[in-house]
Amino acid sequence: MSKFIVVEGLDGTGKTTQIKILADYIRKKDREVEITAEPTAHPTGKLIRKILSGEVKSTPWALASLFLSDRIVHNTDPEDGIEKMLSDGKTVISDRYYYSTFSYQGHETDLDWAMNMHFSCPEVRRPDLVLFLTMEPEKCIERIRANRPDEAIEIYENTESLTKISRQFDTVFSILNEDENIVYIDADGTVEEVSERLFEAYDTYCGE
Ligand code: TYD
Repeated sequence: MSKFIVVEGLDGTGKTTQIKILADYIRKKDREVEITAEPTAHPTGKLIRKILSGEVKSTPWALASLFLSDRIVHNTDPEDGIEKMLSDGKTVISDRYYYSTFSYQGHETDLDWAMNMHFSCPEVRRPDLVLFLTMEPEKCIERIRANRPDEAIEIYENTESLTKISRQFDTVFSILNEDENIVYIDADGTVEEVSERLFEAYDTYCGE
């Protein structure tokens, strides 16, 4: 059966690398897998990128609402939306989802407001499995700088912001723990060690 899996975590935890490895692991089990990400490549996501880089000014409340709009597009786009891919029988892995809005924008706005607008929206699907990659914020910043020394740093990519967001992620996942399949993955290890942890979680929750 097709599954919707989300990989979450702070910037620098290695989500993108781990998602590719997990996708290959699932493909070896004869499943079709699509990798997708937020912000999306749709116009809503492009506007968000401009805000994250500081090119366009916004407010945390406006940004939270934009992320919801982008997420609705992500769910419902008739060509590459999550619903379409799942109905084609594919397993979908998303790099970030509403947990990021609850954590990055939720701590600067109002978490209940952010959660309510998502959970009352019929066009936002709940994932089957959430893999939450955890790592110390200082280590995340070290990795971000080492991986792209020349690239612009986005608005949240400093130790102070990431520390607050990290605490907020913990709050969010403790609230949602009863309703969703959330697995904490220690992301501080070799690529192979971390991917083994993801495989184990996948097999537990999604393996046939
Ligand atoms: P990106 O460069 O894709 O970072 P990463 O590879 O670490 O995912 O940028 C995504 C940024 O957007 C990241 O800093 C987190 C932020 N973000 C939010 O603030 N709220 C959200 O709802 C989402 C999906 C992302």
